[in-house]
Amino acid sequence: MPVPDDDSAGGTGPLTAVVVVGATGFVGSRLVRHLGDAGFGVVVCGRTRLERFADRAAYPEVIAALDAGAVTGEASPHAVAVALDDLARTHRLVGVVASIGGWSIADRLEEVPADTWAGFLDSHLTSHLRAVQRLAPRLPDGAAYVVLNGAASHTPMAGSGPVSVTGAALHMLVEVLRLESAPGGVRYREVVVEHAVAGDERNVDPDREVSARAVGEAVVAALAPGSEAVVRVGATPA
Ligand SMILES: NC(=O)c1ccc[n+]([C@@H]2O[C@H](COP(=O)([O-])OP(=O)(O)OC[C@H]3O[C@@H](n4cnc5c(N)ncnc54)[C@H](OP(=O)(O)O)[C@@H]3O)[C@@H](O)[C@H]2O)c1
Repeated sequence: MPVPDDDSAGGTGPLTAVVVVGATGFVGSRLVRHLGDAGFGVVVCGRTRLERFADRAAYPEVIAALDAGAVTGEASPHAVAVALDDLARTHRLVGVVASIGGWSIADRLEEVPADTWAGFLDSHLTSHLRAVQRLAPRLPDGAAYVVLNGAASHTPMAGSGPVSVTGAALHMLVEVLRLESAPGGVRYREVVVEHAVAGDERNVDPDREVSARAVGEAVVAALAPGSEAVVRVGATPA
C-alpha cells in the first residue's frame, strides 16, 4: 500500500506510526518524544530499559514495544510480525528510524582487542542489517527507513576507530539498500549528526553541539515524501 504524498501525520487520515530502534538510547529517547509531538504513534525498540515505556501517562506517544532480540538479535522475528499485525488494526506504519550504537573513545586501532572489535561490528553495523531485514518487508511502498549516523562516518577520529569504521560501512550499507530498493518501494534515508548532541555528557568538551530538537526535525523531514537521501544536521554551509 503506497504512502500518499499529501497524508501528513496527525491529520484526518488513519493514525500513523513509526518504529524507533534504539529508543532507549540518548538520541533515540529524544526522537520518541519529538516524533510523538509531530503526531506519530511510536513503536519503541531497545535491548534494555524498555519497561519505562510501559508508563503510558509519561509516554503517551508510545503505542507498542518490540524487544530488540527479535529485531536486531538472533531471536525469532515471529514476535515482530505479531506486534506489527496487531498495530495495523489501528495505525498505518509509515517509517522506521534506526538510532543504534553510540560514541566511544578508547584504544587506538592497533590495540583494540578482538572481542571489542567484534562487539562494535555487531552493535554498530550487523544490528542495522538485521533490523532492515526484519522491518523493511513490513513497510508499505513509499515508507521511509531512516538511519542515524555521525561525523565519525566520514572524518577519521583517533581513539574512535571502531565507531569511524562501522559508521563508514553503515553509510555504504544505506547507499546500497537505496540502490537496490525497487522504484516506489522503501525510501532509505541517512541523517548524519555532524556534532555532539547537546546534553549528552559522554561527549567531553565538544567543539560544537547541535540540539536534540534539530536532530528530531531532521528525522521528521527525512521521513516525509520527497526528502533528500542524506540529511546533515549541523553542517557548515558551503
Ligand atoms: N549522542 C550524540 O551526541 C551523537 C552525536 C552524533 C551522532 N549520534 C548518532 O546517534 C545514533 C545514536 O547514538 P546515541 O548517542 O543515542 O547512542 P546510545 O545512547 O549509546 O544509544 C544506543 C542505542 O542503540 C541500542 N543498541 C546498541 N546496540 C544494539 C543492538 N545490537 N541491537 C539493538 N539495539 C542496540 C541501545 O540499546 P540499549 O541501551 O537498550 O542497549 C541504545 O538504545 C548513532 O548513530 C550515533 O552515531 C549521536
